[in-house]
Amino acid sequence: ASDQENIGNVRKQLAKLFETSLRTTVPEESDVEPLVAACTAKFGDYQCNNAMSLWPRIKGKKTEFRGPPAVGQALMKNLPSSEMVEACSVAGPGFVNVTLSKNWIAKNIQKMLIDGIETCAPGLSVKRVVVDFSSPNIAKEMHVGHLRSTIIGDTLARMLEFSNVEVLRRNHVGDWGTQFGMLIEFLFEKFPDWESAGDTAIGDLQAFYKASKQKFDEDPVFKERAQKAVVRLQGGEPRYRSAWAQICDISRREFDGVYQRLGVSLEEKGESFYNPYIPSVLEMLSELGLVEESEGARVIFVEGFERPVIVVKKDGGYNYASTDLAALWYRLNIEKAEWIIYVTDVGQSEHFQMFFKAAKRAGWLPDDDKAYPRTNHVGFGLVLGEDGKRFRTRSTEVVRLADLLDEAKARSKAALIERGKDKEWSEEDLDKIAEAVGYGAVKYADLKNNRTTNYTFNFDQMLNDKGNTAVYLLYAHARMCSIIRKSGKDIEELKKTGSIALNHPDERALGLHLLQFGETVEEACTNLLPNVLCEYLYNLSENFTKFYSNCQVVGSAEETSRLLLCEATAVVMRKCFHLLGIVPVHKL
Ligand code: ARG
Repeated sequence: ASDQENIGNVRKQLAKLFETSLRTTVPEESDVEPLVAACTAKFGDYQCNNAMSLWPRIKGKKTEFRGPPAVGQALMKNLPSSEMVEACSVAGPGFVNVTLSKNWIAKNIQKMLIDGIETCAPGLSVKRVVVDFSSPNIAKEMHVGHLRSTIIGDTLARMLEFSNVEVLRRNHVGDWGTQFGMLIEFLFEKFPDWESAGDTAIGDLQAFYKASKQKFDEDPVFKERAQKAVVRLQGGEPRYRSAWAQICDISRREFDGVYQRLGVSLEEKGESFYNPYIPSVLEMLSELGLVEESEGARVIFVEGFERPVIVVKKDGGYNYASTDLAALWYRLNIEKAEWIIYVTDVGQSEHFQMFFKAAKRAGWLPDDDKAYPRTNHVGFGLVLGEDGKRFRTRSTEVVRLADLLDEAKARSKAALIERGKDKEWSEEDLDKIAEAVGYGAVKYADLKNNRTTNYTFNFDQMLNDKGNTAVYLLYAHARMCSIIRKSGKDIEELKKTGSIALNHPDERALGLHLLQFGETVEEACTNLLPNVLCEYLYNLSENFTKFYSNCQVVGSAEETSRLLLCEATAVVMRKCFHLLGIVPVHKL
Protein backbone atom coordinates (compact mmCIF):
# COMPACT_ATOMS: atom_id res chain seq x y z
CA ALA A 1 0.00 0.00 0.00
CA SER A 2 1.27 3.47 -0.82
CA ASP A 3 1.59 6.23 1.76
CA GLN A 4 -1.46 7.83 0.25
CA GLU A 5 -3.45 4.73 1.18
CA ASN A 6 -2.22 4.80 4.73
CA ILE A 7 -3.42 8.27 5.47
CA GLY A 8 -6.03 7.18 7.97
CA ASN A 9 -4.02 4.29 9.30
CA VAL A 10 -1.52 5.33 11.96
CA ARG A 11 -0.42 1.77 12.57
CA LYS A 12 0.50 1.27 8.92
CA GLN A 13 2.29 4.60 8.74
CA LEU A 14 4.40 3.52 11.67
CA ALA A 15 4.90 0.08 10.16
CA LYS A 16 6.29 1.80 7.09
CA LEU A 17 8.95 3.47 9.24
CA PHE A 18 9.82 0.16 10.86
CA GLU A 19 10.03 -1.45 7.46
CA THR A 20 12.76 1.02 6.54
CA SER A 21 14.49 0.31 9.83
CA LEU A 22 14.29 -3.45 9.26
CA ARG A 23 15.89 -3.15 5.82
CA THR A 24 18.76 -1.17 7.32
CA THR A 25 19.16 -3.33 10.40
CA VAL A 26 18.92 -6.75 8.73
CA PRO A 27 19.18 -6.23 4.98
CA GLU A 28 19.58 -10.00 4.44
CA GLU A 29 16.13 -10.71 5.87
CA SER A 30 14.33 -8.82 3.14
CA ASP A 31 11.09 -10.81 3.47
CA VAL A 32 10.44 -9.85 7.08
CA GLU A 33 7.33 -7.75 7.45
CA PRO A 34 7.12 -5.15 10.20
CA LEU A 35 4.98 -6.25 13.14
CA VAL A 36 3.43 -3.16 14.67
CA ALA A 37 0.42 -3.06 16.97
CA ALA A 38 -1.33 -0.48 19.12
CA CYS A 39 -0.68 -1.15 22.76
CA THR A 40 -2.49 -0.37 25.93
CA ALA A 41 0.61 -0.41 28.06
CA LYS A 42 1.85 2.75 29.73
CA PHE A 43 5.10 2.45 27.79
CA GLY A 44 3.81 3.96 24.60
CA ASP A 45 1.10 4.10 21.99
CA TYR A 46 2.39 1.45 19.58
CA GLN A 47 4.82 -1.38 19.77
CA CYS A 48 7.04 -3.11 17.24
CA ASN A 49 7.52 -6.81 18.00
CA ASN A 50 9.95 -7.89 15.34
CA ALA A 51 13.06 -8.36 17.49
CA MET A 52 11.88 -11.56 19.16
CA SER A 53 10.87 -13.44 16.01
CA LEU A 54 13.88 -12.11 14.13
CA TRP A 55 16.34 -13.37 16.69
CA PRO A 56 16.34 -17.11 15.87
CA ARG A 57 16.80 -16.29 12.18
CA ILE A 58 19.90 -14.14 12.66
CA LYS A 59 21.43 -15.78 15.69
CA GLY A 60 24.99 -16.83 14.92
CA LYS A 61 24.89 -15.07 11.56
CA LYS A 62 24.93 -11.53 12.79
CA THR A 63 27.28 -11.60 15.72
CA GLU A 64 26.99 -7.90 16.45
CA PHE A 65 23.69 -8.73 18.17
CA ARG A 66 23.86 -10.46 21.53
CA GLY A 67 20.13 -11.13 21.84
CA PRO A 68 16.67 -9.86 20.98
CA PRO A 69 16.96 -6.69 23.12
CA ALA A 70 20.00 -5.67 21.08
CA VAL A 71 18.01 -6.23 17.90
CA GLY A 72 15.28 -4.02 19.38
CA GLN A 73 17.87 -1.34 20.15
CA ALA A 74 19.11 -1.44 16.57
CA LEU A 75 15.56 -1.28 15.17
CA MET A 76 14.98 1.78 17.31
CA LYS A 77 18.24 3.42 16.32
CA ASN A 78 17.61 2.87 12.62
CA LEU A 79 14.07 4.20 12.70
CA PRO A 80 13.97 7.12 10.24
CA SER A 81 13.23 10.38 11.95
CA SER A 82 9.63 11.41 11.56
CA GLU A 83 7.46 14.14 12.93
CA MET A 84 4.94 11.53 14.04
CA VAL A 85 7.27 9.99 16.64
CA GLU A 86 7.99 11.75 19.90
CA ALA A 87 9.89 9.08 21.81
CA CYS A 88 10.97 5.44 21.59
CA SER A 89 12.24 2.93 24.09
CA VAL A 90 13.12 -0.74 24.16
CA ALA A 91 11.48 -2.83 26.83
CA GLY A 92 11.58 -6.41 28.12
CA PRO A 93 12.71 -9.00 25.59
CA GLY A 94 13.02 -6.43 22.79
CA PHE A 95 9.76 -4.61 22.26
CA VAL A 96 10.23 -1.21 20.65
CA ASN A 97 7.71 1.15 22.20
CA VAL A 98 6.71 4.26 20.34
CA THR A 99 5.09 7.36 21.75
CA LEU A 100 3.48 9.52 19.11
CA SER A 101 4.00 13.23 19.04
CA LYS A 102 1.00 15.01 20.49
CA ASN A 103 1.46 17.87 18.08
CA TRP A 104 1.33 15.47 15.20
CA ILE A 105 -1.86 13.91 16.60
CA ALA A 106 -3.42 17.35 17.04
CA LYS A 107 -2.45 18.41 13.54
CA ASN A 108 -4.02 15.30 12.02
CA ILE A 109 -7.28 15.71 13.90
CA GLN A 110 -7.50 19.23 12.64
CA LYS A 111 -6.80 18.04 9.15
CA MET A 112 -9.61 15.55 9.47
CA LEU A 113 -11.95 18.31 10.62
CA ILE A 114 -11.09 20.47 7.65
CA ASP A 115 -10.72 17.89 4.88
CA GLY A 116 -13.52 15.62 6.07
CA ILE A 117 -13.53 12.21 7.69
CA GLU A 118 -13.55 10.54 4.28
CA THR A 119 -9.84 11.26 4.09
CA CYS A 120 -9.38 8.77 6.96
CA ALA A 121 -11.00 5.94 5.01
CA PRO A 122 -8.95 2.75 4.71
CA GLY A 123 -7.37 2.00 1.37
CA LEU A 124 -8.28 -1.57 0.48
CA SER A 125 -6.72 -3.37 -2.43
CA VAL A 126 -9.99 -4.82 -3.67
CA LYS A 127 -12.19 -2.92 -6.07
CA ARG A 128 -15.49 -4.80 -6.25
CA VAL A 129 -17.16 -6.91 -3.59
CA VAL A 130 -20.42 -8.82 -3.42
CA VAL A 131 -22.10 -8.86 -0.02
CA ASP A 132 -24.79 -11.56 -0.07
CA PHE A 133 -27.00 -10.84 2.90
CA SER A 134 -30.49 -10.83 4.36
CA SER A 135 -31.71 -13.37 1.79
CA PRO A 136 -35.03 -14.51 3.28
CA ASN A 137 -37.20 -17.15 1.70
CA ILE A 138 -40.40 -16.35 -0.12
CA ALA A 139 -43.62 -17.34 1.62
CA LYS A 140 -41.72 -18.55 4.61
CA GLU A 141 -41.27 -16.23 7.51
CA MET A 142 -38.50 -13.65 7.59
CA HIS A 143 -37.18 -14.47 11.03
CA VAL A 144 -34.68 -12.97 13.47
CA GLY A 145 -31.89 -14.90 11.76
CA HIS A 146 -32.62 -12.89 8.63
CA LEU A 147 -32.68 -9.76 10.77
CA ARG A 148 -29.16 -10.56 11.97
CA SER A 149 -28.02 -11.20 8.43
CA THR A 150 -29.60 -7.91 7.32
CA ILE A 151 -27.97 -5.89 10.10
CA ILE A 152 -24.52 -7.50 9.88
CA GLY A 153 -24.47 -7.53 6.08
CA ASP A 154 -25.52 -3.90 5.87
CA THR A 155 -22.79 -2.72 8.21
CA LEU A 156 -20.12 -4.70 6.35
CA ALA A 157 -21.35 -3.19 3.10
CA ARG A 158 -21.27 0.30 4.64
CA MET A 159 -17.73 -0.13 5.90
CA LEU A 160 -16.54 -1.39 2.52
CA GLU A 161 -18.33 1.45 0.74
CA PHE A 162 -16.69 3.93 3.07
CA SER A 163 -13.37 2.33 2.08
CA ASN A 164 -14.11 3.24 -1.53
CA VAL A 165 -14.90 -0.28 -2.61
CA GLU A 166 -17.74 -0.89 -5.03
CA VAL A 167 -20.23 -3.07 -3.18
CA LEU A 168 -22.87 -5.17 -4.90
CA ARG A 169 -25.47 -5.64 -2.18
CA ARG A 170 -27.20 -8.86 -3.08
CA ASN A 171 -30.39 -10.30 -1.68
CA HIS A 172 -30.19 -14.03 -2.50
CA VAL A 173 -33.88 -14.57 -1.91
CA GLY A 174 -35.13 -18.15 -1.73
CA ASP A 175 -37.65 -17.75 -4.54
CA TRP A 176 -37.19 -21.04 -6.34
CA GLY A 177 -37.96 -24.36 -4.84
CA THR A 178 -40.37 -27.20 -4.60
CA GLN A 179 -42.60 -25.28 -2.20
CA PHE A 180 -43.89 -23.22 -5.12
CA GLY A 181 -45.71 -26.15 -6.70
CA MET A 182 -47.78 -26.49 -3.57
CA LEU A 183 -48.37 -22.77 -3.21
CA ILE A 184 -49.44 -22.31 -6.80
CA GLU A 185 -51.85 -25.27 -6.80
CA PHE A 186 -53.31 -24.02 -3.56
CA LEU A 187 -53.79 -20.59 -5.08
CA PHE A 188 -55.56 -22.04 -8.11
CA GLU A 189 -57.83 -24.12 -5.94
CA LYS A 190 -58.72 -21.61 -3.23
CA PHE A 191 -58.81 -18.48 -5.33
CA PRO A 192 -59.92 -19.31 -8.86
CA ASP A 193 -60.14 -15.59 -9.60
CA TRP A 194 -56.60 -14.91 -8.32
CA GLU A 195 -55.57 -13.13 -11.49
CA SER A 196 -58.16 -10.39 -11.17
CA ALA A 197 -58.38 -10.36 -7.39
CA GLY A 198 -54.70 -9.50 -7.15
CA ASP A 199 -52.86 -10.27 -3.97
CA THR A 200 -55.83 -9.45 -1.78
CA ALA A 201 -56.75 -13.05 -2.47
CA ILE A 202 -53.77 -14.38 -0.58
CA GLY A 203 -53.60 -11.87 2.26
CA ASP A 204 -51.26 -13.22 4.87
CA LEU A 205 -48.68 -15.24 3.02
CA GLN A 206 -47.49 -17.12 6.04
CA ALA A 207 -50.96 -18.35 6.88
CA PHE A 208 -51.35 -19.22 3.22
CA TYR A 209 -48.13 -21.21 3.33
CA LYS A 210 -49.26 -23.09 6.40
CA ALA A 211 -52.65 -23.97 4.96
CA SER A 212 -51.18 -25.18 1.69
CA LYS A 213 -48.56 -27.21 3.52
CA GLN A 214 -51.26 -28.87 5.56
CA LYS A 215 -53.17 -29.78 2.42
CA PHE A 216 -49.97 -31.04 0.83
CA ASP A 217 -49.31 -33.32 3.78
CA GLU A 218 -52.86 -34.61 4.06
CA ASP A 219 -54.13 -34.91 0.51
CA PRO A 220 -52.18 -37.26 -1.76
CA VAL A 221 -54.04 -36.15 -4.90
CA PHE A 222 -53.13 -32.54 -4.15
CA LYS A 223 -49.58 -33.56 -3.42
CA GLU A 224 -49.22 -35.14 -6.81
CA ARG A 225 -50.65 -32.09 -8.52
CA ALA A 226 -48.27 -29.88 -6.56
CA GLN A 227 -45.29 -31.94 -7.66
CA LYS A 228 -46.38 -31.68 -11.27
CA ALA A 229 -46.87 -27.95 -10.82
CA VAL A 230 -43.18 -27.57 -9.96
CA VAL A 231 -42.28 -29.10 -13.30
CA ARG A 232 -44.75 -26.87 -15.15
CA LEU A 233 -43.41 -23.80 -13.39
CA GLN A 234 -39.82 -24.69 -14.16
CA GLY A 235 -40.86 -25.49 -17.73
CA GLY A 236 -41.98 -21.87 -17.98
CA GLU A 237 -45.76 -22.29 -18.42
CA PRO A 238 -47.15 -18.74 -18.36
CA ARG A 239 -50.02 -19.33 -15.93
CA TYR A 240 -47.64 -20.92 -13.44
CA ARG A 241 -45.05 -18.26 -13.97
CA SER A 242 -47.46 -15.45 -13.30
CA ALA A 243 -48.88 -17.13 -10.18
CA TRP A 244 -45.28 -17.55 -8.96
CA ALA A 245 -44.53 -13.91 -9.69
CA GLN A 246 -47.59 -12.81 -7.76
CA ILE A 247 -46.64 -14.84 -4.72
CA CYS A 248 -43.10 -13.46 -4.84
CA ASP A 249 -44.45 -9.92 -5.07
CA ILE A 250 -46.38 -10.23 -1.84
CA SER A 251 -43.30 -11.43 0.03
CA ARG A 252 -41.18 -8.79 -1.57
CA ARG A 253 -43.43 -6.02 -0.37
CA GLU A 254 -43.23 -7.33 3.16
CA PHE A 255 -39.43 -7.60 3.02
CA ASP A 256 -39.13 -4.14 1.54
CA GLY A 257 -41.12 -2.71 4.42
CA VAL A 258 -38.55 -4.06 6.86
CA TYR A 259 -35.61 -2.82 4.77
CA GLN A 260 -37.09 0.62 4.52
CA ARG A 261 -37.57 0.89 8.24
CA LEU A 262 -34.01 -0.25 8.84
CA GLY A 263 -32.59 2.02 6.15
CA VAL A 264 -31.06 -0.91 4.31
CA SER A 265 -30.72 -1.00 0.55
CA LEU A 266 -30.37 -4.26 -1.30
CA GLU A 267 -30.67 -5.55 -4.80
CA GLU A 268 -32.66 -8.70 -5.21
CA LYS A 269 -31.10 -11.41 -7.30
CA GLY A 270 -32.90 -14.42 -6.01
CA GLU A 271 -32.25 -18.10 -6.59
CA SER A 272 -34.49 -18.01 -9.68
CA PHE A 273 -32.12 -15.54 -11.29
CA TYR A 274 -29.27 -18.04 -11.34
CA ASN A 275 -31.39 -21.00 -12.36
CA PRO A 276 -30.79 -20.59 -16.11
CA TYR A 277 -27.02 -20.65 -15.52
CA ILE A 278 -26.97 -23.94 -13.64
CA PRO A 279 -26.85 -26.36 -16.62
CA SER A 280 -23.87 -24.70 -18.29
CA VAL A 281 -22.03 -24.25 -15.02
CA LEU A 282 -22.49 -27.94 -14.20
CA GLU A 283 -21.38 -28.76 -17.73
CA MET A 284 -18.17 -26.83 -17.13
CA LEU A 285 -17.58 -28.64 -13.86
CA SER A 286 -18.26 -31.99 -15.53
CA GLU A 287 -15.76 -31.23 -18.25
CA LEU A 288 -13.19 -30.61 -15.56
CA GLY A 289 -14.00 -34.09 -14.29
CA LEU A 290 -15.37 -32.87 -10.99
CA VAL A 291 -18.91 -34.21 -11.21
CA GLU A 292 -19.48 -37.85 -10.34
CA GLU A 293 -22.42 -40.22 -10.09
CA SER A 294 -23.28 -41.30 -6.56
CA GLU A 295 -26.40 -43.15 -5.44
CA GLY A 296 -28.37 -41.80 -8.36
CA ALA A 297 -27.37 -38.22 -7.73
CA ARG A 298 -24.67 -36.12 -9.35
CA VAL A 299 -22.10 -34.95 -6.86
CA ILE A 300 -18.74 -33.27 -6.31
CA PHE A 301 -16.41 -34.76 -3.73
CA VAL A 302 -14.32 -32.31 -1.72
CA GLU A 303 -11.40 -32.80 0.60
CA GLY A 304 -12.10 -33.10 4.29
CA PHE A 305 -15.74 -34.07 3.96
CA GLU A 306 -17.06 -37.56 3.77
CA ARG A 307 -20.29 -36.63 2.05
CA PRO A 308 -20.04 -34.92 -1.32
CA VAL A 309 -21.73 -31.73 -2.51
CA ILE A 310 -24.90 -32.83 -4.29
CA VAL A 311 -25.41 -30.77 -7.43
CA VAL A 312 -28.20 -32.71 -9.12
CA LYS A 313 -30.65 -34.56 -6.92
CA LYS A 314 -31.84 -38.09 -7.60
CA ASP A 315 -35.04 -36.72 -9.16
CA GLY A 316 -32.98 -34.61 -11.57
CA GLY A 317 -33.71 -31.33 -9.77
CA TYR A 318 -31.19 -28.70 -8.79
CA ASN A 319 -30.71 -27.57 -5.21
CA TYR A 320 -29.27 -24.93 -2.91
CA ALA A 321 -25.68 -25.95 -3.73
CA SER A 322 -26.12 -26.01 -7.50
CA THR A 323 -27.69 -22.56 -7.30
CA ASP A 324 -24.84 -21.27 -5.18
CA LEU A 325 -22.24 -22.64 -7.60
CA ALA A 326 -24.00 -20.93 -10.50
CA ALA A 327 -24.26 -17.70 -8.48
CA LEU A 328 -20.57 -17.84 -7.63
CA TRP A 329 -19.68 -18.39 -11.25
CA TYR A 330 -21.86 -15.43 -12.22
CA ARG A 331 -20.39 -13.16 -9.57
CA LEU A 332 -16.82 -14.01 -10.54
CA ASN A 333 -17.19 -13.98 -14.29
CA ILE A 334 -20.04 -11.65 -15.18
CA GLU A 335 -20.00 -9.24 -12.26
CA LYS A 336 -16.22 -9.50 -11.87
CA ALA A 337 -16.32 -9.39 -8.11
CA GLU A 338 -13.03 -10.13 -6.37
CA TRP A 339 -14.44 -10.83 -2.96
CA ILE A 340 -17.76 -12.52 -2.22
CA ILE A 341 -19.06 -12.37 1.32
CA TYR A 342 -21.98 -14.50 2.48
CA VAL A 343 -23.81 -13.59 5.67
CA THR A 344 -25.88 -16.40 7.21
CA ASP A 345 -26.17 -18.25 10.50
CA VAL A 346 -23.27 -20.52 11.44
CA GLY A 347 -25.54 -23.51 10.86
CA GLN A 348 -24.85 -23.14 7.16
CA SER A 349 -21.09 -23.03 7.46
CA GLU A 350 -20.62 -26.58 6.23
CA HIS A 351 -22.55 -25.81 3.07
CA PHE A 352 -20.28 -22.85 2.39
CA GLN A 353 -17.04 -24.61 3.26
CA MET A 354 -17.98 -27.46 0.95
CA PHE A 355 -18.97 -25.45 -2.08
CA PHE A 356 -15.98 -23.12 -1.65
CA LYS A 357 -13.81 -26.23 -1.85
CA ALA A 358 -15.63 -27.35 -4.96
CA ALA A 359 -14.89 -23.93 -6.49
CA LYS A 360 -11.22 -24.33 -5.56
CA ARG A 361 -11.11 -27.74 -7.20
CA ALA A 362 -12.51 -26.09 -10.32
CA GLY A 363 -9.75 -23.49 -10.19
CA TRP A 364 -12.22 -20.63 -9.77
CA LEU A 365 -10.64 -19.66 -6.47
CA PRO A 366 -7.00 -19.81 -5.42
CA ASP A 367 -5.97 -22.27 -2.71
CA ASP A 368 -4.71 -19.47 -0.51
CA ASP A 369 -7.71 -18.25 1.49
CA LYS A 370 -6.32 -14.75 1.77
CA ALA A 371 -5.68 -14.29 -1.94
CA TYR A 372 -8.21 -12.83 -4.39
CA PRO A 373 -10.64 -13.74 -5.82
CA ARG A 374 -11.81 -14.80 -2.45
CA THR A 375 -14.95 -15.99 -0.67
CA ASN A 376 -15.86 -15.72 2.99
CA HIS A 377 -18.74 -17.09 4.96
CA VAL A 378 -19.66 -14.63 7.70
CA GLY A 379 -21.48 -16.86 10.15
CA PHE A 380 -23.43 -15.68 13.15
CA GLY A 381 -24.97 -17.28 16.22
CA LEU A 382 -28.58 -17.63 17.31
CA VAL A 383 -30.81 -15.00 18.81
CA LEU A 384 -31.99 -16.34 22.15
CA GLY A 385 -34.95 -15.42 24.30
CA GLU A 386 -34.79 -14.79 28.04
CA ASP A 387 -35.30 -18.52 28.60
CA GLY A 388 -32.05 -19.27 26.79
CA LYS A 389 -33.90 -20.96 23.97
CA ARG A 390 -34.39 -19.76 20.41
CA PHE A 391 -36.09 -16.37 20.48
CA ARG A 392 -39.86 -16.65 20.07
CA THR A 393 -42.88 -14.60 20.98
CA ARG A 394 -45.46 -15.63 23.55
CA SER A 395 -47.48 -17.54 20.99
CA THR A 396 -44.48 -19.86 20.44
CA GLU A 397 -44.56 -18.76 16.80
CA VAL A 398 -41.43 -17.24 15.33
CA VAL A 399 -41.09 -13.53 15.87
CA ARG A 400 -42.46 -11.31 13.13
CA LEU A 401 -39.87 -8.71 12.34
CA ALA A 402 -42.36 -5.93 11.76
CA ASP A 403 -43.82 -6.51 15.24
CA LEU A 404 -40.40 -6.50 16.77
CA LEU A 405 -39.52 -3.17 15.20
CA ASP A 406 -42.89 -1.76 16.24
CA GLU A 407 -42.18 -2.70 19.80
CA ALA A 408 -38.67 -1.23 19.76
CA LYS A 409 -40.09 2.03 18.52
CA ALA A 410 -43.04 2.06 20.93
CA ARG A 411 -40.78 1.42 23.90
CA SER A 412 -38.29 4.11 23.03
CA LYS A 413 -41.14 6.54 22.36
CA ALA A 414 -42.60 5.80 25.79
CA ALA A 415 -39.21 6.48 27.36
CA LEU A 416 -38.96 9.82 25.55
CA ILE A 417 -42.46 10.80 26.70
CA GLU A 418 -41.52 9.88 30.23
CA ARG A 419 -38.73 12.42 29.97
CA GLY A 420 -41.27 15.01 28.89
CA LYS A 421 -40.01 15.23 25.33
CA ASP A 422 -43.55 15.19 23.95
CA LYS A 423 -43.96 18.69 25.36
CA GLU A 424 -40.75 19.90 23.75
CA TRP A 425 -40.91 18.29 20.33
CA SER A 426 -43.43 18.00 17.56
CA GLU A 427 -45.19 14.66 17.15
CA GLU A 428 -43.22 14.16 13.95
CA ASP A 429 -39.87 14.72 15.66
CA LEU A 430 -40.85 12.48 18.52
CA ASP A 431 -41.67 9.73 16.07
CA LYS A 432 -38.48 10.15 14.07
CA ILE A 433 -36.27 10.12 17.14
CA ALA A 434 -38.13 7.16 18.63
CA GLU A 435 -37.36 5.25 15.45
CA ALA A 436 -33.72 6.29 15.41
CA VAL A 437 -33.28 5.20 19.02
CA GLY A 438 -35.44 2.08 18.86
CA TYR A 439 -34.05 0.63 15.63
CA GLY A 440 -30.56 1.79 16.54
CA ALA A 441 -30.84 -0.11 19.82
CA VAL A 442 -31.85 -3.32 18.05
CA LYS A 443 -28.97 -3.01 15.60
CA TYR A 444 -26.33 -2.13 18.16
CA ALA A 445 -27.36 -4.94 20.52
CA ASP A 446 -26.78 -7.33 17.66
CA LEU A 447 -23.55 -5.83 16.35
CA LYS A 448 -21.70 -5.25 19.61
CA ASN A 449 -21.22 -8.97 20.26
CA ASN A 450 -18.75 -11.06 18.40
CA ARG A 451 -21.10 -12.28 15.69
CA THR A 452 -20.28 -15.96 16.11
CA THR A 453 -21.72 -16.08 19.63
CA ASN A 454 -25.41 -16.44 20.41
CA TYR A 455 -26.97 -13.37 21.94
CA THR A 456 -29.98 -12.85 24.13
CA PHE A 457 -32.62 -10.51 22.88
CA ASN A 458 -33.72 -8.20 25.68
CA PHE A 459 -35.57 -4.94 25.10
CA ASP A 460 -34.96 -3.59 28.61
CA GLN A 461 -31.25 -4.12 28.25
CA MET A 462 -30.84 -2.72 24.77
CA LEU A 463 -32.97 0.34 25.54
CA ASN A 464 -31.16 1.11 28.77
CA ASP A 465 -29.57 4.56 28.72
CA LYS A 466 -26.61 3.32 30.74
CA GLY A 467 -23.97 0.82 29.74
CA ASN A 468 -22.82 -0.23 26.32
CA THR A 469 -26.03 0.50 24.40
CA ALA A 470 -26.99 2.58 21.39
CA VAL A 471 -29.16 4.73 23.64
CA TYR A 472 -26.22 5.62 25.86
CA LEU A 473 -24.07 6.40 22.83
CA LEU A 474 -26.74 8.47 21.15
CA TYR A 475 -27.11 10.49 24.33
CA ALA A 476 -23.37 11.00 24.53
CA HIS A 477 -23.36 12.32 20.99
CA ALA A 478 -26.33 14.60 21.56
CA ARG A 479 -24.58 15.99 24.64
CA MET A 480 -21.54 16.88 22.55
CA CYS A 481 -23.71 18.66 20.05
CA SER A 482 -25.33 20.61 22.85
CA ILE A 483 -21.98 21.62 24.37
CA ILE A 484 -20.98 23.09 21.03
CA ARG A 485 -24.38 24.72 20.51
CA LYS A 486 -24.45 26.26 23.94
CA SER A 487 -20.92 27.66 23.64
CA GLY A 488 -22.37 30.10 21.16
CA LYS A 489 -19.28 29.77 19.01
CA ASP A 490 -19.30 29.27 15.26
CA ILE A 491 -17.58 25.93 14.98
CA GLU A 492 -16.98 26.26 11.23
CA GLU A 493 -15.11 29.46 11.92
CA LEU A 494 -13.10 27.84 14.72
CA LYS A 495 -12.03 25.02 12.43
CA LYS A 496 -10.41 27.57 10.15
CA THR A 497 -8.90 29.89 12.72
CA GLY A 498 -8.37 27.85 15.87
CA SER A 499 -5.99 25.06 16.64
CA ILE A 500 -5.94 21.96 18.81
CA ALA A 501 -3.47 21.38 21.63
CA LEU A 502 -3.38 18.14 23.59
CA ASN A 503 -1.63 19.09 26.81
CA HIS A 504 -3.83 17.36 29.36
CA PRO A 505 -3.39 13.54 29.43
CA ASP A 506 -7.12 13.04 28.90
CA GLU A 507 -7.04 15.32 25.88
CA ARG A 508 -4.15 13.36 24.47
CA ALA A 509 -5.83 10.00 25.09
CA LEU A 510 -9.01 11.19 23.36
CA GLY A 511 -6.99 12.60 20.48
CA LEU A 512 -5.06 9.39 19.94
CA HIS A 513 -8.26 7.37 19.99
CA LEU A 514 -9.83 9.69 17.41
CA LEU A 515 -6.89 9.15 15.12
CA GLN A 516 -7.29 5.38 15.36
CA PHE A 517 -10.68 5.47 13.68
CA GLY A 518 -9.34 4.62 10.21
CA GLU A 519 -7.36 1.58 11.25
CA THR A 520 -10.29 0.35 13.31
CA VAL A 521 -12.61 0.42 10.31
CA GLU A 522 -9.95 -1.32 8.28
CA GLU A 523 -9.63 -4.07 10.87
CA ALA A 524 -13.42 -4.43 11.23
CA CYS A 525 -13.99 -4.82 7.52
CA THR A 526 -10.98 -6.90 6.60
CA ASN A 527 -11.70 -9.30 9.46
CA LEU A 528 -15.44 -9.01 8.92
CA LEU A 529 -16.07 -8.18 12.57
CA PRO A 530 -18.48 -5.29 13.18
CA ASN A 531 -18.05 -5.65 16.96
CA VAL A 532 -14.56 -4.17 16.57
CA LEU A 533 -16.13 -0.90 15.47
CA CYS A 534 -18.72 -1.02 18.28
CA GLU A 535 -15.97 -1.47 20.82
CA TYR A 536 -14.11 1.47 19.35
CA LEU A 537 -17.23 3.63 19.50
CA TYR A 538 -17.92 2.73 23.11
CA ASN A 539 -14.32 3.45 24.10
CA LEU A 540 -14.50 6.73 22.25
CA SER A 541 -17.43 7.83 24.35
CA GLU A 542 -15.64 6.64 27.50
CA ASN A 543 -12.57 8.64 26.54
CA PHE A 544 -14.75 11.64 25.90
CA THR A 545 -16.49 11.36 29.26
CA LYS A 546 -13.14 11.25 30.99
CA PHE A 547 -11.91 14.26 29.08
CA TYR A 548 -15.11 16.19 29.72
CA SER A 549 -15.13 15.55 33.42
CA ASN A 550 -11.47 16.52 33.87
CA CYS A 551 -11.11 19.36 31.39
CA GLN A 552 -13.33 22.39 31.52
CA VAL A 553 -14.43 23.31 28.02
CA VAL A 554 -16.60 26.41 27.86
CA GLY A 555 -15.08 29.41 29.59
CA SER A 556 -11.61 27.88 29.94
CA ALA A 557 -8.39 29.24 28.47
CA GLU A 558 -8.34 26.22 26.16
CA GLU A 559 -11.92 26.71 25.02
CA THR A 560 -11.24 26.82 21.27
CA SER A 561 -9.05 23.75 21.26
CA ARG A 562 -11.45 21.83 23.45
CA LEU A 563 -14.50 22.77 21.42
CA LEU A 564 -12.68 21.50 18.35
CA LEU A 565 -11.96 18.28 20.18
CA CYS A 566 -15.67 17.98 21.02
CA GLU A 567 -16.52 18.57 17.39
CA ALA A 568 -13.98 16.00 16.18
CA THR A 569 -15.41 13.45 18.61
CA ALA A 570 -18.93 14.16 17.40
CA VAL A 571 -17.81 13.82 13.76
CA VAL A 572 -16.15 10.46 14.39
CA MET A 573 -19.09 9.22 16.45
CA ARG A 574 -21.51 10.15 13.69
CA LYS A 575 -19.40 8.27 11.17
CA CYS A 576 -19.40 5.22 13.44
CA PHE A 577 -23.18 5.45 13.76
CA HIS A 578 -23.48 5.77 10.04
CA LEU A 579 -21.31 2.71 9.44
CA LEU A 580 -23.37 0.74 11.94
CA GLY A 581 -26.60 1.81 10.23
CA ILE A 582 -27.68 3.90 13.21
CA VAL A 583 -29.23 7.32 12.63
CA PRO A 584 -27.60 9.87 14.96
CA VAL A 585 -29.76 12.54 16.54
CA HIS A 586 -28.55 15.98 17.48
CA LYS A 587 -30.84 16.48 20.43
CA LEU A 588 -32.12 13.96 22.91
N1 ARG B 1 -32.18 -18.13 1.80
C1 ARG B 1 -31.18 -18.67 2.66
C2 ARG B 1 -31.77 -18.88 4.06
O1 ARG B 1 -32.75 -18.28 4.42
C3 ARG B 1 -29.95 -17.80 2.77
C4 ARG B 1 -29.20 -17.58 1.47
C5 ARG B 1 -27.79 -17.16 1.70
N2 ARG B 1 -27.06 -16.92 0.49
C6 ARG B 1 -26.57 -17.85 -0.33
N3 ARG B 1 -25.97 -17.48 -1.43
N4 ARG B 1 -26.68 -19.14 -0.05
O2 ARG B 1 -31.23 -19.64 4.82
